[in-house]
Amino acid sequence: MAESRCLVIGAASGIGLATVERLRKAGAAVVAGDLPSAGWPDGNGGLSVPIDVTDAGSVQTAVASARKTLGGLDAVVNCAGVLGPVAPAATTSLEDFEHIVKINLTGAFLVSRAALPAMAEARYGRLVHISSTAGKEGVANMSAYSASKAGILGLVKSLAKEYARAGVTVNAVAPGNILTPLFLEVPEEQQRQQAARIPMGRFGTAEEVAALIEYIVSPDASYTTGFVFDLSGGRATY
Ligand SMILES: NC(=O)c1ccc[n+]([C@@H]2O[C@H](COP(=O)([O-])OP(=O)(O)OC[C@H]3O[C@@H](n4cnc5c(N)ncnc54)[C@H](O)[C@@H]3O)[C@@H](O)[C@H]2O)c1
Repeated sequence: MAESRCLVIGAASGIGLATVERLRKAGAAVVAGDLPSAGWPDGNGGLSVPIDVTDAGSVQTAVASARKTLGGLDAVVNCAGVLGPVAPAATTSLEDFEHIVKINLTGAFLVSRAALPAMAEARYGRLVHISSTAGKEGVANMSAYSASKAGILGLVKSLAKEYARAGVTVNAVAPGNILTPLFLEVPEEQQRQQAARIPMGRFGTAEEVAALIEYIVSPDASYTTGFVFDLSGGRATY
């Protein structure tokens, strides 16, 4: 990873933050992007860029700025996402549904559109989006979240085919339950139900997800694209 130039989005918290730390430790040059309003525990140290994945202009500007700062972009990891509100579909407002899909799915599209053409031109690139077990199985009271995460699977598989001959891989990671601020928004009773379905009997950590991402964005991961990497303590079965 020593010469890798990476942009991590959703980098102020949870999986994104762990990914920035992991990649920097491996020697990569990393620009960390998140909402201007996000709390940066390290005081926004290191290279960073403001980005709102729901805003096409902001995404274009942030990706271009990261590319300029680093002299190119070998990898983009999009960890920006929101969970809820967690509620039955019948009482979920259209505004809430569209808000969740706009960040989780439309945001992934905008990031892809901004990142991929220059990677193809350079004949090398790694793009990773974070889906979820929810996108494969569906989770009650999380219809918007589950739909947005299922959408990422289709997006990644489609983009992978478009860029397969350009030296660029596009993959998704589908975590199960990972101990981050987002997961703590899941109501406790639902957390208990989900815990009971994990063969390993524990939740995952952001560091475990970051370790997998480090592999996917490395030059070694050269023959896997359009794939969904599970990370669920054995919960996901397909
Ligand atoms: N934690 C889990 O159990 C779990 C499971 C499966 C998938 N995921 C997915 O992993 C990703 C990271 O989640 P996490 O658990 O680390 O959550 P988190 O809440 O700790 O971090 C999410 C980050 O996304 C940023 N973000 C939100 N809206 C944004 C926007 N419009 N533009 C830019 N950044 C924005 C937030 O500021 C935050 O820093 C999300 O896509 C989430 O859906 C998490």
